[in-house]
Amino acid sequence: MSQNYAALSQVIHERKSVRKFDPNYIMSAEDITSILEEATLAPSSSNLQPWRFIVIQDQDTKKKIKEFSYNQEQMETASVIIAVIGDTEMYHNIDEIYLSNLAAGNIDQEHVEIQIQNAKAAYPNAPFEARRNIATFDAGLVSMQLMLIAKAKGYDTVTMGGFDKQQFVDTFELESRYEPLVLIAIGKAAAPAYGSTRLPIDTITKFI
Ligand SMILES: Cc1cc2nc3c(=O)[nH]c(=O)nc-3n(C[C@H](O)[C@H](O)[C@H](O)COP(=O)(O)O)c2cc1C
Repeated sequence: MSQNYAALSQVIHERKSVRKFDPNYIMSAEDITSILEEATLAPSSSNLQPWRFIVIQDQDTKKKIKEFSYNQEQMETASVIIAVIGDTEMYHNIDEIYLSNLAAGNIDQEHVEIQIQNAKAAYPNAPFEARRNIATFDAGLVSMQLMLIAKAKGYDTVTMGGFDKQQFVDTFELESRYEPLVLIAIGKAAAPAYGSTRLPIDTITKFI
């Protein structure tokens, strides 16, 4: 077993949703930023990176979110709540993203122009539902990375879909292109996770 695999496997096995956090623990800005930076190394459709984040540390704001999140305790006691938001108009960043690939020497001028043209033909003309699905799927990938990175750095997390999306949109005055997807609580565990089991591979997989 390679060292890389052993380390990754340990993090994957040890990540469990924690719902009791030390309310006094303050995460450093550097830690939060580096977790986000590494999480965004996740892949995304055409590398359009349709994830956006709101990092919520302010105690009054956390309390307010808790009120429209079934009063989930971790909303208030976690050090940080990271709202993962999907940008259904991810195509506005096509030039910036592809030209930065050009500047980094990952692609040449001729091919970058083709890529930009193709992306600008496809994404703005795709149905809203298709763009929403892409944003939601890609935000799921970044969220998973975020949880594993946080765990590897000594934090615990719980992802939460149980909140009123409309109230979130209203509270943070989100434009209609942005969809709040999940809230990820991060902090220092004050009690272990409940633990959870998984369906057997045979139940969920067809081998052909
Ligand atoms: C999209 C999504 C939404 C979730 N919403 C909530 C939630 O609102 N509250 C909560 O306590 N846990 C929530 N969870 C955590 C799940 O209950 C948990 O991941 C599952 O029971 C498996 O346990 P584990 O994460 O400890 O492996 C959510 C997880 C996901 C992926």
